Amino acid sequence: MPDTGTTAAAFAPANIALCKYWGKRNQELNLPMTSSLSVSLGDKGAATRITITDHDQDIMTLNGAAVPLFSEFGQRLMVFLDLFRLNLYRPPASLRFHVDTTTSVPIAAGLASSACGFAALVLALNKLFHWQLDARHLSILARMGSGSACRSIWPGFVEWEQGQDADGMDSYGKIIPEVWPELCMGLLMVNEKEKNISSRVAMQRTVETSTLYSAWPDKVEQDLADIKQAIHEKDFSLLGKTAESNALAMHGTMLAAWPPVNYCLPETMAAMQKIWALRIEGLSLYFTQDAGPNLKLLFLEQDRATVQSHFNLDIVRPFC
Ligand code: PMV
Repeated sequence: MPDTGTTAAAFAPANIALCKYWGKRNQELNLPMTSSLSVSLGDKGAATRITITDHDQDIMTLNGAAVPLFSEFGQRLMVFLDLFRLNLYRPPASLRFHVDTTTSVPIAAGLASSACGFAALVLALNKLFHWQLDARHLSILARMGSGSACRSIWPGFVEWEQGQDADGMDSYGKIIPEVWPELCMGLLMVNEKEKNISSRVAMQRTVETSTLYSAWPDKVEQDLADIKQAIHEKDFSLLGKTAESNALAMHGTMLAAWPPVNYCLPETMAAMQKIWALRIEGLSLYFTQDAGPNLKLLFLEQDRATVQSHFNLDIVRPFC
């Protein structure tokens, strides 16, 4: 059966946290234990088209390939879409959707593909249903799909304030109105394969079993303050060192979980060693790492050529 033609499309950027979100206080609503802060990746992200269809099941395609509805990702998407199926005007009341997403970041390799995917879906739904929601409400809805998606509603620097309310209505992404045109992020792919443990599972295991997790909220509080200061004063070494230390501390909490969670491959460690060695030689180069083996290198435009002579990178300038 054909699509009904009721369709809308939207784009959302991927975002990379400089101060990470790791741990939920409410699993159903994706409410975080701490605040976090990210930078969005300009035109790297997800473009999603959603169409109301006459099929008897949802259809999902990702980069041209069908997503099986029973797969983990298919199920996640369907549960999210369940929130929006009610159709008072066109019984039977349950709508079916065709969701077609194209990403310019590798899927599930710790490159924030689910964040931009859910954010683009919410922006497309907003157009499809003519909700005319403001950014705050769009961010809250995106958070319900994937926590970090609430930051992908905005470009540039974004802070996700953890909030206090049980219903999560005060837990959403806010833009930090600062630009830093010289800032570069280099995506260093050491492995494009899907990660073997989802951030959702790893996060929960860390909260429940890691003895190091109790130190995490204080670490985040200090790092957030330092990163905001660094952004405001354009103090790149403070930004780089804080972001790198924050990522390493997050991975430290995971290593202390049981069973342990380790996203690093030998190539990840080798790249870290190389970055540390170059820094000792005077290069202002730092990294951050998410729930996958790949690194994101942080440096300034003035060092681009030097950094490129050492690494094969896909370079993004978030503010250009
Ligand atoms: O939003 P999720 O469930 O994909 O978790 C994101 C977790 C990290 O990428 C590791 C950190 C972050 O703040 O983006």
